[in-house]
Amino acid sequence: MAELIGLPAPPPAGETALRAGTFDGTAVFITGGGTGLGKAVALEFARLGAAIVVASRKPEHLAAGVEAIGATGARVEAVECDIREPESIAAAFDRAESVFGLPGVLVNNAAANFPVPAEDMSPNAWRTVVDITLNGTFFCSREFGRRHLAAGTPASIVNIGASYAWTGGPGFAHSAAAKAGVKNLTESLAVEWGPYGIQVNSLVPGLFPHEDMTADITENLSRTSDKDVCQPALRVGQRQELGWAATFLASPYGRFISGHTLVVDGANWQRRSLVNPPVVAIRDQMGRPPFGTER
Ligand code: HXC
Ligand code: NAP
Repeated sequence: MAELIGLPAPPPAGETALRAGTFDGTAVFITGGGTGLGKAVALEFARLGAAIVVASRKPEHLAAGVEAIGATGARVEAVECDIREPESIAAAFDRAESVFGLPGVLVNNAAANFPVPAEDMSPNAWRTVVDITLNGTFFCSREFGRRHLAAGTPASIVNIGASYAWTGGPGFAHSAAAKAGVKNLTESLAVEWGPYGIQVNSLVPGLFPHEDMTADITENLSRTSDKDVCQPALRVGQRQELGWAATFLASPYGRFISGHTLVVDGANWQRRSLVNPPVVAIRDQMGRPPFGTER
């Protein structure tokens, strides 16, 4: 009888999937590269020879990125940057160029998210998430693309998405809408900039728990008692699996892949039965009283 063994565990973190030195001489600019998945992706590029530019707002996150990436022996530069601000992005790229030359890879990883029922969401909450996740991704891509078009150099962009771009994300209407925009933007930019040698792809993580997750997200996740059995893979993702996918997409071996969104989630986002589980309203899932009864 076939046993339920789930998808096999990957090789350990620290192994590289591509040949050593694949990114020698290339700088990788990664937003939000000091925490969680961004840091994991940055580490994989670093292990393959890349110099890394970590860009985000908080000095403590930048310091964490510099420490982890520096420990691999890679060159790393941290730049304070708010991706909602085009001027801040331009200054960050100026700094990156002055240290390493124009980065050949941009990873648009930074995003914002917190669970909230749509009817409770303030206009500013909506704006903030869309501004960071969608507008920030476009502003960084635009800055990077313009510099490469001016220089006549090829380049690669990897946008980090989310699968509720397709399914919708109850409790995350702002983030899901923004990620749908990121997926669509990937496709537009891949066509516009392909003739100039710029490849644009998107990478969608499934559930990858990590220690930097915000309290909002971990509280939401803690409502699922056993995350492994809720996944077709019978396990969650390990960060190096995302890093390997990102480095492949941006590598010489992935040059003909563009406008693509690669999902790394063990098939978790696919429908898995003829009927869905019973409907539980988001307010109830979040333990909120009926709308209009709160003080
Ligand atoms: C409702 C909230 C809220 C919450 C903030 N707001 N948190 N509303 N519920 N939990 C509202 C605020 O009240 C305010 O609206 C508006 O959002 C902006 O809040 P600020 O704190 O002023 O914003 P800012 O300082 O710019 O910080 C942005 C942030 C913050 C998004 C609120 O959490 C952040 O910096 N996050 C970055 C890291 C992050 O989000 N990581 C998650 C990525 S994980 P008002 O109306 O009061 O002015 C991910 C996918 C995970 O994307 C998938 C898991 C399965
Ligand atoms: P995270 O640890 O909370 O990282 C978010 C990063 O974004 C932080 O480093 C933060 O740095 C940066 N950031 C936020 N706002 C910014 C701004 N305005 N300007 C510049 N940087 C900003 O989250 P994560 O889990 O690693 O998520 C990484 C990516 O994966 C995101 O795109 C997320 O949507 C996606 N994702 C994650 C999961 C998962 O299971 N973890 C699942 C699906 C999709 P500062 O605070 O220093 O600015």
